[in-house]
Order: sequence, then structure tokens, then C-alpha cells
Amino acid sequence: MKALILSGGKGTRLRPITHTSAKQLVPVANKPILFYTIEAVREAGITDVGIIVGDTHEEIKAACGDGSQWGVKITYIKQDEPLGLAHAVKIAEDYIAGDTFVMYLGDNLIRDGITDLVERFKEETPNSQILLAHVPNPCSFGVAELDGDRIVRLVEKPKEPKSDLALVGVYMFDSTVFEAVNAIKPSWRGELEITDAIQYLVDTNRRVNAHIIRGWWKDTGKRDDMLEANRIVLEDIETLVEGEVDQQSVIHGRVRIGEGSTVTGSTIRGPAVIGRNCRVVDAYIGPFTSINDNTIIERSEIEHSIILEDCVIEDLQGRMVDSLLGRGVRVTRSDLKPRAYRFMLGDSSDVSVL
Ligand code: G1P
Repeated sequence: MKALILSGGKGTRLRPITHTSAKQLVPVANKPILFYTIEAVREAGITDVGIIVGDTHEEIKAACGDGSQWGVKITYIKQDEPLGLAHAVKIAEDYIAGDTFVMYLGDNLIRDGITDLVERFKEETPNSQILLAHVPNPCSFGVAELDGDRIVRLVEKPKEPKSDLALVGVYMFDSTVFEAVNAIKPSWRGELEITDAIQYLVDTNRRVNAHIIRGWWKDTGKRDDMLEANRIVLEDIETLVEGEVDQQSVIHGRVRIGEGSTVTGSTIRGPAVIGRNCRVVDAYIGPFTSINDNTIIERSEIEHSIILEDCVIEDLQGRMVDSLLGRGVRVTRSDLKPRAYRFMLGDSSDVSVL
């Protein structure tokens, strides 16, 4: 069995971060989302991994390499335009070469991994196995209508959903899916939808098994989803302090602090992670915060946020919460006159002030 991880797309809902970075490489608890996916695939015993890449292919390749860091072999497959998930399957036909495969959307996170689901697929040998989860906002997903265990209909982003069962971004297929992706037509949004391809399998009496997953699952397309994923992953971290914490600092709960980082006169309330070579001085770092490498935080308070590498946050009067900062961002106070806000923000930035 092979894996096909989809890591293209423009990530429009995560701008401005995605103007310069692939959405699948935005970190959760300081680790790119895509790495959780590769680990889950490896954990399920799959070592042959194809990654579909788009405009951000260089960055994805630089981060994942040949896969040897996970003990897998990665083959990159270029999708020149984001023409849909079923189109990604179509261009992977030569790579899949008649094998069965799990298709995993590189911005999806599933708590319990996929090992049991892969086992189930191998045992039951359906043509396809899909995963469903109850969600409060089905209009944002592919939605399944079931009759008992049987799939009646799958609709992509329905205006009037027939259920609250969303299609999770992990699918298993045998090679009948290639017939399906070649038979369907583009949807109203101009994409070849994997949802329509699976509907084709249902319509042509192929065996499609659906499993409802109960553990958490997150599609990390938007800032609030990223923050929620960060929160959920941080819930499970263990304390590991490799940096230096001075006597005046107080650490509560589970906190990870990387090598070369120093914490001085600060309070850190976990769960939280601080990467390597960071400097935290006279600061408060609250629960559900991930601070990436080489970041400086002085005389400021931060909580429930994701801060990427090389940022500087100094002398903030109010507490920073619910924030997602890209690389090299500076947020500081200034004594310049007139007293005013001074911004240099990229396209599609989002700022809330007191
Ligand atoms: C895609 C699929 C959708 C599925 C979702 C899961 O949506 O088209 O059916 O429910 O992934 O993450 P997209 O993220 O492309 O909007």
C-alpha cells in the first residue's frame, strides 16, 4: 500500500502567512502539520509516500527531503494548477501503479492516527473507505447522507446539508478510483472533486465503506482552526526543559523549552512550547502558546497563540491572545511622537487593536 499526501493549494484562508509559506508547513506545537501526516502514514507501516506539490514545491521539498528522516521514501509529484483533489489523484496514476493507497490531505490532523483504519481497509478490502466525523458546520465540508451503514449520497459543500457528517480528509482507494476521476466533470468551483469521484464509485455499485471517527480531527485551513489544533496537540505534551530557567522564573504545568533558550524573571503557564535559542525576559507566556526558534519576548504577555521563528515581541501593554505571527515579525512599543500605531503589514494582514 502507498500513501498520497496532498500538499499543494494556495492556502488563501491563511493569508498573509501563506503568501510566503506553504500552509502545510505552518507549525502546530512547533512542528509542521505535514510532519504529523508523514508520521501517521509511517506509523501505519506505509513507507512509499507520494507528495503532490504545487507552487510551494521547493519549500515542501526542502522541509521533507527524501523522507529518510522518517524512514520513508518520498516521491514528489507536481500539480501545475490546483484543479482539485480528484485531479491530484489523476496525475498520480503512474506513481500508484495499480497498488492500493491512502490519500491524506496535508492540512488535516487526526488525533488517533490512521493505523487502525489502514488495518480495517486491508481486512475488508472495499474499493474505497471514507472517514466521517460529526461537525457543527457541515456546509464547509463534503457531507455524507447515510442509510444505516450505506452511503446514499455525498455532496461537496452543500448549502442545505442532509446530515452533520463531514468527509474527513483521509481516504483509501484501490485502482477503481482512476476510472472515477477520469469519468467526473469539474464542479461549480471548477475543480475535480474527490467527493464526486467517490459518489461515482457508489453509483457504479462499487463497495465504499464509511467509518465515523470519534477522536478529534482538524482541517487547519483557517487561523482559528490552527489555534485549536495547537491547543489540542499541546494538551498531550510532556515537560522537557533543555534551556535555562533562572531562579526568578516560575513554570506551571507542562512546558517544553528548547536548547539554547533562556527564561529570565518570567512566568510560563503550560501547556506551552518554546523552541530553541529564544529569549524570554520579564514576560508571561500563558497556556496553549507555541513559540518557535530564535524568538525574543520581553516585558510582554502572550497566551493562546502561535509565534513562528525569528520574531521580536517587546513592551506590549496589553496581553497578546489568539494570534498567529509569521516569521520575523516585530511587535514593539515606540516612544516616537506623535503617539500612534505604526504598521508595516503584508497583504491580507489582520490586526485588532484596543
Ligand atoms: C476538502 C474536501 C472536503 C473535505 C475536506 C476535509 O475540502 O473537498 O470534501 O470535507 O477537504 O478537510 P477543502 O479543504 O478543499 O475545502
